[in-house]
Amino acid sequence: MSADQLALFKSSWNTVKHNEVDILYAVFKANPDIQAKFPQFAGKDLDSIKDSADFAVHSGRIVGFFSEVIGLIGNPENRPALKTLIDGLASSHKARGIEKAQFEEFRASLVDYLSHHLDWNDTMKSTWDLALNNMFFYILHAL
Ligand code: HEM
Repeated sequence: MSADQLALFKSSWNTVKHNEVDILYAVFKANPDIQAKFPQFAGKDLDSIKDSADFAVHSGRIVGFFSEVIGLIGNPENRPALKTLIDGLASSHKARGIEKAQFEEFRASLVDYLSHHLDWNDTMKSTWDLALNNMFFYILHAL
């Protein structure tokens, strides 16, 4: 990824990173099978849990993971920390029986959200494609 792409990737994420609840909502809305894996949300009406404190906590953790990773990307010194984060995510999710296909669904919904909340021109799209290809390559590999 070029320096320009890295800067665009980080600055564009900064504009949406606090929309944690909206992002998790969009993921659950498009993928009831993902919602169903969360013991505290399974079988509940999404619109009625969206504004709960529990939903905010989980959104913060999940979307916050992206912020943590994105904050570390770009500096070779951070590679070991990135590897630890990704390996931890993969092992905790593998233990829960989350499948690769569900990570792909999550990714597709995240991209759909971004495409409606960022200036989704060709440069933006290709930058996010590249960044998520790298990130998901490592996650899926470790899963
Ligand atoms: C918990 C991130 C995809 C289901 C978590 C946590 C984080 C996280 C940071 C809390 C720490 C932990 O327990 O590991 C992510 C990210 C994802 C992703 C960044 C995509 C790249 C998924 C998918 C599913 C899922 C696709 C289900 C199909 C869960 C469940 C929990 C969890 C069930 C435990 C919630 C609880 O009871 O505390 N996730 N996750 N995650 N995630 Fe994910």
